[in-house]
Amino acid sequence: MCGIVACILKDKQAAPVLLGCVKRLEYRGYDSVGLATSSSKIKVKKDKGKIGEVQKKLELTDMPGKMGIAHVRWATHGLPTRENAHPHTDCKNRIAVVHNGIIENYKELRDELREEGHVFRSETDTEIIPHLIEKYMDNGSDLEEATRLATQDIRGSYAVAVMSSDEPNKIIGVRKESPLIVGVGEGNYFIASDVPAILPHTNQVIYLNDNEMVILSKDGVTVKNMDGTVITKKIDLIDWTPDMAEKGGYNHFMLKEIHEEPDAVKKTIMETSQIKKMVETFPKFNRICFVACGTSYHASMVGKYLFESLIGIPTDVVLASEFEFSAGALDEKTLVIFISQSGETADTLKALRTANKKAETLAIVNVLGSTATREADHVIYTRAGPEIGVAATKTYVSQLTCIYLLAICMNGNKKLLKEIEKIPDYMRNAIEKEDHIKEIAEKYKDADDFFFIGRGFSYPTAMEGALKLKEITYIHGEGYAAGELKHGPLALIEDDVPVVVVVPPGESHDRTLGNVQEVNARGASVIAVGSCKDNTLKSQSSDIIGFEDEINEFWSPLPYVVPLQLLSYHMSVARGIDPDKPKNLAKCVTVE
Ligand code: AGP
Repeated sequence: MCGIVACILKDKQAAPVLLGCVKRLEYRGYDSVGLATSSSKIKVKKDKGKIGEVQKKLELTDMPGKMGIAHVRWATHGLPTRENAHPHTDCKNRIAVVHNGIIENYKELRDELREEGHVFRSETDTEIIPHLIEKYMDNGSDLEEATRLATQDIRGSYAVAVMSSDEPNKIIGVRKESPLIVGVGEGNYFIASDVPAILPHTNQVIYLNDNEMVILSKDGVTVKNMDGTVITKKIDLIDWTPDMAEKGGYNHFMLKEIHEEPDAVKKTIMETSQIKKMVETFPKFNRICFVACGTSYHASMVGKYLFESLIGIPTDVVLASEFEFSAGALDEKTLVIFISQSGETADTLKALRTANKKAETLAIVNVLGSTATREADHVIYTRAGPEIGVAATKTYVSQLTCIYLLAICMNGNKKLLKEIEKIPDYMRNAIEKEDHIKEIAEKYKDADDFFFIGRGFSYPTAMEGALKLKEITYIHGEGYAAGELKHGPLALIEDDVPVVVVVPPGESHDRTLGNVQEVNARGASVIAVGSCKDNTLKSQSSDIIGFEDEINEFWSPLPYVVPLQLLSYHMSVARGIDPDKPKNLAKCVTVE
């Protein structure tokens, strides 16, 4: 879970450009940062800490040379320290490497290299790479060949960028099971873990596949197979503007991304004709199985209710990390739907590879060209644009939109396709309530425990509300199916415990109100999310976030999650936490 970037520039110093690029990758890891640039020899500056802190201390922008590599780290092997920060170098400091991924056999390789006299300075798996390359260069290989030979020794996943003072004006990138893209500008060439990193410099991108190598030089970009054969790759034009990857005037990415939700849903609805076409190619399935992690899992839970109610196909929802224990019942009549913002989550990819052997697979993914999109049989993109905040917000509602569209297209109900178009307006209505939500956040910011409850379509919303709270406020939050309260959790409800109740109009409304009475009787403070016109609910709640429109529970997962995201966001800020960078969490979990 790290971010890498590299560049060769025509007429600018590389360091300030690289620093800007890694800043846009900081969501991939932020426990340390480092740069290596090359003029006559390689210079490395790196340390533990967030980019801003390390920049102040080391003046990272003040480094010579028009080419370089950079890294933001999320520690997996070795503590966050200066020594473990990337770039890593060989014994003679003539080769520098940045890496995202995990080298499984690094201990054996390190022992062998140590016996051959190599001196290691860090505890990382990555450091074996520059030493392996050094070994092969000492034996007569050039940088390209030495990098190729080194990757043959390595077991695991990697996206790496390599440079050497012996071959100035060349940077090599290689990918296997970790994302890596190539940016092609006017005389300026880049490689990076993802597109937002390089967007201010170019919107022309080549997606590398596993076991492909890219060679950047002053003269351009060459992509090769690992046997050295040159391959012709398509250049994609990215329609994301650099602004889309910046905060755009908001204090935090998360807030910006919540405000972008109506637009994200609208853009995703534009995928309807693609989805229709895809559905026409489907055989008759007799089982659907959703697989995902975290927030994407909560979107999948809504999928189960939708597919069972609209199409009547038995539908399961499985956590990706649990999938291997339940994959036995798959066959070619099963459609396994993988939901992932990043398309790179290790647990999800592992499950996808298992499912690919037995069933038809579909990935609903936000990141273009990510691994899941290349490995699944079918792909639907959530058109949310880049999401930088660690907590998923706009991608969740875009995932939900895709799931609704898919179920509706499979069911063929044209009326529902018309109704979904109203959702962005419902969401805007929720965003307009932000000041009121902020007041509620201030009121409850010091609570120790929160409960979130809802029934049917509102149960996943309650789960997602609790996850957001935990992630960015560090307050203990539990999401429950409202009917489950009396089977245990009610014992924890006492005076002033905040209970957020998700209670849209619909079939389950009255029974959920019964649960509101239960918690009220035990002294809870009820924060209700429901309809403005729901006077009974109002009379039983300490606070209410009310929608002007009567949004039936069937559609409620989309707009009703917005107030819960805003509530957690404002509580996080009120508690002095940076909601974009919650502790212990990373945006993309590329390890099992
Ligand atoms: C959500 O706020 C979290 N960042 C996390 O639960 C996330 O949804 C999960 O790790 C899955 O990621 P993915 O959608 O990229 O696969």
